Amino acid sequence: MSETPSTKSGPDLALGTVADELADGAMRVGHVGGESVLLARRGDEFFAIGAECTHYHGPLAEGLIVDDTVRCPWHHACFSLRTGEALRAPAFSPVACWSTEIRDGKVFVGERKAGPVSKPLRVSGSRRAMPERIVIVGGGAAGFAAAERLRGEEYQGTLVMLSSEDAPPVDRPNLSKDYLAGNAPEDWIPLRPDSFYSDNGIDLRLGANVTRIDVAARQVVLDDATALPYDRLLLATGAEPIRLPLPGMELPHVRTLRSLADSRTIIERASTARRAVVLGASFIGLEVAASLRTRGIEVHVVAPEAIPMERILGSEIGQFVRRLHEEHGVIFHLGDSATGVDTRSVKLKNGGALDADFVVAGVGVRPRTALAESAGLALDRGVLVDAYLETNVPGVFAAGDIARWPDQHTGESIRVEHWVVAQRQGQTAALNMLEGREKFAAVPFFWSQHYDVPINYVGHAEAWDALEIEGDVAARDCLVRYRRNGRVLAVASIHRDVESLAAEVRLERAAA
Ligand SMILES: Cc1cc2nc3c(=O)[nH]c(=O)nc-3n(C[C@H](O)[C@H](O)[C@H](O)COP(=O)(O)OP(=O)(O)OC[C@H]3O[C@@H](n4cnc5c(N)ncnc54)[C@H](O)[C@@H]3O)c2cc1C
Ligand code: FES
Repeated sequence: MSETPSTKSGPDLALGTVADELADGAMRVGHVGGESVLLARRGDEFFAIGAECTHYHGPLAEGLIVDDTVRCPWHHACFSLRTGEALRAPAFSPVACWSTEIRDGKVFVGERKAGPVSKPLRVSGSRRAMPERIVIVGGGAAGFAAAERLRGEEYQGTLVMLSSEDAPPVDRPNLSKDYLAGNAPEDWIPLRPDSFYSDNGIDLRLGANVTRIDVAARQVVLDDATALPYDRLLLATGAEPIRLPLPGMELPHVRTLRSLADSRTIIERASTARRAVVLGASFIGLEVAASLRTRGIEVHVVAPEAIPMERILGSEIGQFVRRLHEEHGVIFHLGDSATGVDTRSVKLKNGGALDADFVVAGVGVRPRTALAESAGLALDRGVLVDAYLETNVPGVFAAGDIARWPDQHTGESIRVEHWVVAQRQGQTAALNMLEGREKFAAVPFFWSQHYDVPINYVGHAEAWDALEIEGDVAARDCLVRYRRNGRVLAVASIHRDVESLAAEVRLERAAA
């Protein structure tokens, strides 16, 4: 992401704030030396850190203080109030820290601490293993987060990251949102500049397609027959878009969206198109629809369900999302499906055809488990891992969209396709490859964005028997709880960020 200069807002915190004016757990934004600073109180302690999240510049003052951390209201990153360290993805870079001093009942923000602030390692010396060679298969959310965390933990061994993509790890969620809509410049897309990998001794190999894992010989084999030995292996191969078995789906104007290259191809198509058909009315399909509408393209969405996203979010949010898209000019063909595509149109099951200059199929993904399967790893609709994200083969870990793990919050074995979960799993797997023995305990979180409406979701409810709405969905101000047997399993929200964070904390504590 690009850096936006902080604006000078609120009081000059260097001049002092009456300490009693800030209650325990409260925050105030001001400025010091031209930089935007968050002053926060925890008990009798006062902390001053950068006011903007290092993910997408979310306003931390609108988030939630939990112990001595602050959580970002937008996508639930978490920063240490003591050190500014980014403790949880999706933020990786720390925020700045300032000294504070209390004099005569006032708290003064002083010097900006010289960065980077040193942080304790999570894997202590006695337990720390130093495998000589770690190989990560996958250059996406989980793979990147694992590599970053390994070097952050001062892992000194050889670290190879293999990605079949052409681009270094990118901000994948953006590929269907601002980037596709034309609102995000190119420099927002890489998770880190190219130099990050060489500077940190990460041997990132792009266009590297792993075809085989030899678990007995502890090596991975690429399609050019290169064999790479490992002492620890992380499989983070993600998921791939499902291709409908219909006539015409192989035509060049029928696209799916997973990679930066896919997004660029759709943008290129959109530059000369008048009309697009999107197959599928779930998250990616509808985000693509929104972005194409922003580009002024006529968009038709074809999907078999009666209400978009109903299975995951319930009918109320689903109906709201449908109306929102209709207000922006999207034309739905629900309860219908495509039977084939030709160069000019999409044929529909219910009869008729829709003209289309291009087609985007967003009908779901399937985890890329072929490598794991051929290596003999235990599978169950994904790669089975234990609470430490290790597979049934010692030394081989899996994280992200492919991993099915024992979720301590629901007591079920679950697999999700969420950006933040993949990153946090990558971080946990990294620690455990160094014998950190940390259980993956994060409450699942995802967000989706449709025009100017963000939907946040914490927890996991594959099925629920009661749905409870607080607020007004149509007014874009609501909290929706999904309960089973009386217990809240998940909470979706629109513009109720603090409540969403509080729900996350409750779910965490319920399982603790
Ligand atoms: C357009 C889009 C928008 C999204 N928006 C959101 C959102 O708003 N919120 C949200 O929570 N989630 C979102 N997601 C989902 C999120 O991006 C995924 O859950 C996340 O990327 C999963 O991370 P991962 O590391 O498991 O897989 P990926 O990020 O897909 O990375 C997998 C990597 O493995 C590589 N790979 C696969 N097989 C091989 C092989 N054999 N050899 C070498 N490399 C291989 C791939 O090239 C890729 O680099 C979105 C996904 C897409 C596609
Ligand atoms: S802006 Fe803070 S987590 Fe995304």
